[in-house]
Amino acid sequence: MTTVLVLNGPNLQMLGAREPEIYGSATLADIAAACQDLGAELGLEVDLRQTDDEAELIGWVHEAFERRLPVVINPAAFTHYSYALRDALAMLTAPLIEVHLSNPAARESFRHTSVVSAVATGTIAGFGPQSYELALRAVAWLLHPPAPG
Ligand code: DQA
Repeated sequence: MTTVLVLNGPNLQMLGAREPEIYGSATLADIAAACQDLGAELGLEVDLRQTDDEAELIGWVHEAFERRLPVVINPAAFTHYSYALRDALAMLTAPLIEVHLSNPAARESFRHTSVVSAVATGTIAGFGPQSYELALRAVAWLLHPPAPG
C-alpha cells in the first residue's frame, strides 16, 4: 500500500472551534477519520500530521522526499509567504496536492498569493473537508491513471 503524507500547517488543530463560519464544524480528527476511510477504499495508507512549526513541517517534507511519498498539504498561512516550505516542496518527485478548506482567492488579498501552488501538481480549494478527500482521489488517480478507452 502506498503511504500518503497529509500534512497540515498552523492553527489547523483548532478546526471545529476556529472561525466555523469560514472553516466549518469538522475537527481535524474528523478529517483524519474521513481520510483514513477513503484511503482504505483507494488503497492508500494515510499518515495525517499537523504542526504549528515551520521547521517541523519542512522536516516532514524532507521525509517525503527521501521516501518518495505523495503529499497532500494544507500549508495554512505558510501558503502565503513561506519560501522555505516552497523550496522543500519543490524537491518532491511524487504527486503533491495543495489543499485548502476555504477558497483563499475569494478572501483577503494577502491570501490571493500562494507561494507553493507553482510547485504543486495541483490545488484543490473551497470544498471544506471534502477538499482533502478530493485530493486523495487525485493522488490515487495520478498514481494509477485509468487505462485509455
Ligand atoms: C487555509 C487558508 C489559509 O489562508 C489560512 O491561513 C488557513 C487555512 C484553508 O484551509 O482554507 O489557515 O489554508
